Amino acid sequence: MQNNKFLELNANENSLGMSASAKQAITESLGEGFRYPDNPRNALISKISSIHDVSENQISLGNGSTENIRATLQMLQNKALKEGRQFQMVIPVPTFDCAAMYANAIGVPVVKIPVTAENYDLDFDELQKTADEFDGISLFYICNPNNPTGIITATEKLKTWISNAPDNHYFLLDQAYMDYVSDPSFESAIEWVKQGLSGNLVVIHTFSKLCALAGMRVGYAISNPQTIENIEAFMSMDNTNLSGAVAAIATLNDAEFLALSLRTTNQSRQMIETVLDELGLCYLPSQSNFIFYEIKGDLKTYIDRMRDHDIKVGREFPPVTGFNRLTLGRPDEMAVFVKTLKLFREKGWV
Ligand SMILES: Cc1ncc(COP(=O)(O)O)c(C=O)c1O
Repeated sequence: MQNNKFLELNANENSLGMSASAKQAITESLGEGFRYPDNPRNALISKISSIHDVSENQISLGNGSTENIRATLQMLQNKALKEGRQFQMVIPVPTFDCAAMYANAIGVPVVKIPVTAENYDLDFDELQKTADEFDGISLFYICNPNNPTGIITATEKLKTWISNAPDNHYFLLDQAYMDYVSDPSFESAIEWVKQGLSGNLVVIHTFSKLCALAGMRVGYAISNPQTIENIEAFMSMDNTNLSGAVAAIATLNDAEFLALSLRTTNQSRQMIETVLDELGLCYLPSQSNFIFYEIKGDLKTYIDRMRDHDIKVGREFPPVTGFNRLTLGRPDEMAVFVKTLKLFREKGWV
């Protein structure tokens, strides 16, 4: 169990907790725990297929979406090996680091391209140049909205880039935080898969954020049927377990909970933006369940001091300095954070 002494505002979890409907579904499913989870897995695939209007063979369920990330990497590494080609992954930094961790573990070189200094967005020219100059297969891992910045990349730019990319450039687009996006210019890359914009596009979603099921480990990839079949070869069998599958279905069917979940995060974001404005600390326009904000000072010291006040905030995200990532928890948790931040200001620490 987690140590309840701390406010856990460091892992972008949804501290509203699982929906009552998810808990009930898990409890009711326990009698089936001795069976392999084919039926609930199939039901979840069918539900996802109707939500996104894609066919069932365009979906790969994961034991958390990070399993889909790993399998996509391995699938492409294997393809490159079979074709006698080189393989690399290209990522912006900072970003969610699990793709790079998996790549390191299996010996895939990772090229890191810092986000731009002007607006912390992708450096399209450098990303593309890195792949253009590489004689082999390149996989771009792009998180949109990005973690830790919380901002979105301009839809048209991203879409144009992907649609004009050569055959040896692949895109793993992680939309873990898509449900929080309010910017009307944002378009889900699942639409691009449906439009056949690129055969080299894999889109990743998770149930760990808006659906509050991080501990249940459910995520999925959407792509064209052939790519999904290739990815599936690297997924573990029956990966999404019974509890995770029934909890995910129950949550998707629980419109009231989903609305509450979104409303709660939006309320918490508003509270934090208000205090940051009040203290004159700048922040990036968050389109997610966390916010990247300025702390004016040494980040490590700030993280340690927050911990001394029983609050865990986000880690360091090089190469960006002077900014911290805060998970938007429940409003009552935000009230404690706001009080602490104001105390830090009184002490001259921020
Ligand atoms: C961008 C991104 N993708 C994926 C994940 C993890 O997803 P899952 O819990 O489905 O493995 C996270 C978790 O913080 C994340 O930030």
